[in-house]
Amino acid sequence: MISLKTIDEIMITAKIEEVVGDFISLKRRGQNWVGCCPFHSDTNPSMYVSPHLGIFNCFVCDTKGNAVHFIMYHEKISYPEALRYLAKKYNITIEEDAKKTTEEIEEESKKESLLLVNQFAENYFIEQLFDTEDGRNIALSYLKKRGLNEASIKKFKLGYNPEGWDAFTQTALKKGYKKEQLLKLGLTKESENGKLFDFFNGRIIFPIHSPLGKTLGFGARTLKQGEKIAKYFNSPESEVYHKSDILYGFFFAKKAIRAHNNVYLVEGYTDVISMFAAGMENVVASSGTALTKGQIKLLAMQTQNITLVYDGDAAGIKASLRGIDMLLENELNVQTIMLPEGEDPDSFARKTSPEELKAYFRENSISFIHFKAKILFEEAGNDPMKRAGVVNEIIQNVADIPDTVARAFYIKECVEIFQLSKKMLSAQLRKAILEKHKSAKSRNEEWYDIF
Ligand code: CTP
Ligand code: MN
Repeated sequence: MISLKTIDEIMITAKIEEVVGDFISLKRRGQNWVGCCPFHSDTNPSMYVSPHLGIFNCFVCDTKGNAVHFIMYHEKISYPEALRYLAKKYNITIEEDAKKTTEEIEEESKKESLLLVNQFAENYFIEQLFDTEDGRNIALSYLKKRGLNEASIKKFKLGYNPEGWDAFTQTALKKGYKKEQLLKLGLTKESENGKLFDFFNGRIIFPIHSPLGKTLGFGARTLKQGEKIAKYFNSPESEVYHKSDILYGFFFAKKAIRAHNNVYLVEGYTDVISMFAAGMENVVASSGTALTKGQIKLLAMQTQNITLVYDGDAAGIKASLRGIDMLLENELNVQTIMLPEGEDPDSFARKTSPEELKAYFRENSISFIHFKAKILFEEAGNDPMKRAGVVNEIIQNVADIPDTVARAFYIKECVEIFQLSKKMLSAQLRKAILEKHKSAKSRNEEWYDIF
């Protein structure tokens, strides 16, 4: 049996327009593609393919579905066979679930039941936000004052855990959810004298979803200002929540990332929601931590083009440069955008019209080379050794780019920025590539073909 994990990966990776496009010729029409439907005799293109929704739909014979369905109907094969076909097309290794041991079945049902608890919690928090007086007067009005509209609040399933002690925990226990589960998920804490209390009490809740929309954990923002308490509390790592494999907003952004073939990477929960509300839906957040391999893999399944959005406060930017290196090492294209001083995407999106916001992003997107050079040269000052170090570091980055033509463009950019000769920079680049090639070979890794 194909494992659920593999099925998830296939569903996330398969691009409907590519899957259908392998069999019929498609033409772009606005956001969609159209072609002659292969399921009835069609001369006038009546099949629509929507990258945005991940579906095909023939408005004449009414055959419709996702990528797996298309392969099933077209090739007249079963569901698992269609999955295998797509796995092969996208180079996805199929994990088979051998006949499960009792332990594994138990493990899985444990996870399933933890997810049910999270689902219950999410609904509870939503209800508290919209259907209670405190929720509306305190939390909903706070969100609205911040400029979040109701549609966004509902879409991202924001909620509220009212100020108090244990109202949520008691409700959950009464419903039959177990204390151990609530503790494991970090929804409930136990005080030293054994009293249970709501971990997120008095906070706005931001549910964190899996790439397929399951609620894995929560971020929770305090409503208090200026007090010496953490602005956010987050769910702890658990059997269902592995922070390093998750990007906030990914579930909602997935379709737009594909449609635009680009993703904006921002820092916070509110940044994602505000950009989304302004119509820039291809946006995800790393939730304030350094980018991980798991997160990069998730993005790389959807697009090769990553745009990093930096708050205009400069603090912490140097530390985040490692993220750029990692993206390049994974053969992704990296652009960067710096927001005006003092702004994060959320505050900036609220100050500008959606058109202005889009225009700013379009006009201020610069290549990683310009960005790194600016940050690192500022630090290096006029010290020739330090400046040489910066040049060499950036040449190392260029060496990670697999496309020869792209490398040539980047070298051209380097010539302009560094004011050094193309000949010398190209020689340095060749050296860097050879070294990388050698060390990859010694690790028995495949690397892009340099010859
Ligand atoms: N973060 C966190 N824990 C904290 C502070 C921040 O997990 N104590 C994460 C959250 O994902 C947050 C992101 O880092 O969204 C960015 O932090 P920050 O800029 O401080 O918060 P904002 O999301 O901008 O919150 P706000 O605009 O409400 O102040
Ligand atoms: Mn903010």
